[in-house]
Amino acid sequence: MESQDILSLCRRRGFLWPAYDIYGGLAGFYDYGPLGASLKHNIETQWRKLYVFEEGMQELVCPLIAPEPVFKASGHLDAFADMYVECRGCGESNRADHLAEGLAENPAALSEEELGRVLEEHGVKCPVCGGDITAPRRFNLMFKTTVGAGSSKSGYMRPETAQGMFVNFSQIYRHGREKLPVGAVQLGRAFRNEISPRQGLVRLREFHQMEAEIFFHPERKTWPRYNAVKDRTLPLVPDGGVAAELSLSDAVSSKTIANEALAYFMWLTHRFALDVGLDPKRLRLRQHERNEMAHYALDCWDLEAETTYGWIELVGIADRGCYDVQAHLKHSGADLTAFERFDEPKEVVREAVTPKFDVMGKLFKGDTKALAGKLSEMMPDAVRGRDEVVVEVDEKKFASPSSCYDIVTSTEKVSGEKFVPHVIEPSYGVDRILYAVLEHAYHEEDDYVTLSLKSSVAPIKVGVFPLMAKDGLEVTAKELSESLSSDGIHAHYDESGSIGRRYARMDEVGTPCCVTVDYQTIEDGTVTVRNRDTKEQVRIGKDEVVPTVRGIVEGGNIEA
Ligand code: GAP
Repeated sequence: MESQDILSLCRRRGFLWPAYDIYGGLAGFYDYGPLGASLKHNIETQWRKLYVFEEGMQELVCPLIAPEPVFKASGHLDAFADMYVECRGCGESNRADHLAEGLAENPAALSEEELGRVLEEHGVKCPVCGGDITAPRRFNLMFKTTVGAGSSKSGYMRPETAQGMFVNFSQIYRHGREKLPVGAVQLGRAFRNEISPRQGLVRLREFHQMEAEIFFHPERKTWPRYNAVKDRTLPLVPDGGVAAELSLSDAVSSKTIANEALAYFMWLTHRFALDVGLDPKRLRLRQHERNEMAHYALDCWDLEAETTYGWIELVGIADRGCYDVQAHLKHSGADLTAFERFDEPKEVVREAVTPKFDVMGKLFKGDTKALAGKLSEMMPDAVRGRDEVVVEVDEKKFASPSSCYDIVTSTEKVSGEKFVPHVIEPSYGVDRILYAVLEHAYHEEDDYVTLSLKSSVAPIKVGVFPLMAKDGLEVTAKELSESLSSDGIHAHYDESGSIGRRYARMDEVGTPCCVTVDYQTIEDGTVTVRNRDTKEQVRIGKDEVVPTVRGIVEGGNIEA
């Protein structure tokens, strides 16, 4: 099987196809057709079931466009960039690190200069026309836009749904009755101006994410349901270690996984993957290498699936520390802290830099007040043991000797503490998951294609056919189809072509079962139910069709 087999099936049967096809297409953009939209919706529903219903997280829907300060704070404006090279001949742009794959250990971690050197040393040429390439240049991946007319402000299409949740921490915390841990989720579009989108749904410029941001007390990173699953095992590939099936508790106690909460959400991610029908033998959780991880991340794992493109990342699960909330707190000035009340008020010893106005007055005259204010804001450790500190006021620098201040210790009673929460983030890419689901479900034998989709995600749940479109068989079949539809089950009525062709059409789009009305139905009121995977047929009464199909859909199996 090739990825082209899947993509051509997708186009032929209305799952998805490249967008703006009639104008020659636009790389990195896809349309979902009726079956694809339905499959996507069903995958999202499985996710929502876990995160919103079972784990009780708050669902948010935030704008797709955000103002510049949001991405200044998050670091995207300065650092969300890839390096590209341009062909001097045909003008084609390519990711510089992709061209250096296999030529250096981790090309994505190299600097502009290092990458340039590797490409030059190996004489790398344009992969399209073989022409000479430029030196690598940085390219920010966010789509920029303007908001409003006239002297409009810069805005950016969000490159992840996550920021909407970080900036809303106070709302989430308040809505969660000011208790931690608390989780928020968001499903929606994300935009990245990828340099060379390729591999179908794997690298898109507009794609769909399902992200959860779960906020913790920094010293208590566990989750209420961790104990219930701690003996379950996961297929782990630790950084620098060997691949192994490890229980969650063994992985945490051996420090393979940083903490219980991260282990729990890795388990939940793996469970979700099985719920949507991914093949457990083609899944693994791979830990990021140290130089692959964001500098602020405390630990990071990817759920990867084996596909015809190789192992691809479907989900990233990271302990991001306090980086995100801290960044927005600093840039916006908003109080994005959590507060924890102690059981009993506690006595705490505090140190503070205390200016000595009498000494300072003689030295700094009219600047004393402003200077003293600056000094008292300094952390004691920043001045301790130093002969003098340099303080800047209104762009003027003052050398303030240690005789100008003391470090004063005092004892206070406090009822609780304020802190910046830490975040654990499972971030799912819907399009990649959908593609992997299709690949893992795809079976071809003697040119006969069956998509063995889990019933829970299959776009059509049941095909309903009259053996012949005559003698009243079609009337009964239509009635059955309507009663299934009015019960909320997606049924597909089809009377055209041979019955074999109709079964084949349903098998090819992953419909778990088919109900056929035949001449025996007229005699004894029974119909056949055919199982997509075994192709076996059993007879049941007409009245049993709705509950039987409902059982198949809800049970996730297709035993007819
Ligand atoms: N908030 C963290 C974040 O966005 P990420 O690893 O950049 O992390 C998360 O993205 C997931 O989104 C990936 O695991 C992948 O499934 C999906 N994804 C990222 N970039 C994508 C792209 N260009 N096209 C399709 N899916 C993408």
